[in-house]
Amino acid sequence: MDIYDNFFEPLISEKEILKRCEELGALITEKYKEDGLVAVGILRGCTLFYTELVKHIHCPLVFDFMFVSSYGNEMVSSGVVKIEKDLETNIKNKHVLLIDDIIDTGKTLANLKEMLQARNPKSIEFCTMLDKKAKRESFVDVKFSAFDIDDCFVVGYGLDYKQFYRNMPFIGKLIDGKQPELDKFLEKFE
Ligand code: IMP
Ligand code: MG
Repeated sequence: MDIYDNFFEPLISEKEILKRCEELGALITEKYKEDGLVAVGILRGCTLFYTELVKHIHCPLVFDFMFVSSYGNEMVSSGVVKIEKDLETNIKNKHVLLIDDIIDTGKTLANLKEMLQARNPKSIEFCTMLDKKAKRESFVDVKFSAFDIDDCFVVGYGLDYKQFYRNMPFIGKLIDGKQPELDKFLEKFE
């Protein structure tokens, strides 16, 4: 019994995530070993997945991060993408790999790709930890995906509920009907 058990049921274990990071790392290495890449993490959700994944990519790689707002603290996508923190790297003629926690409607990444395309990179591809395929509204060609999941609300391994639970070392699903109790619990930390 720990602090997570009241509200979340385990969906994907840390062990499974680490295994998929190794597998994806090998595929990414194969693709970029000649030219190298700029690994762009989408903050803040990418953090745990990003840091695990890059350890398994064995080719010249530059770290960079973007902070885009789309969701606020809501559980549904607003579709509006605003760049809050831009890249430090000039991506012209570079291979760019966008690394994110989860693709839901796809609106965030589809819009972001369009914005970055204007900077003339050699290529832009997507890598995501989770893919909620059933919820897709904008087309996104996802080259690397660790897991497909059903339409449910998940937290952990970088993913948040009201900015909490990103540090949970596995992916958990919000238990049906528990949201009001969870909101009440979080009130004193907000
Ligand atoms: P979309 O693909 O534009 O709908 O938005 C994807 C973003 O929504 C992700 O980067 C997350 O920040 C957030 N998101 C979508 N589904 C979930 C979830 O189940 N838990 C936590 N955040 C989510
Ligand atoms: Mg996100």
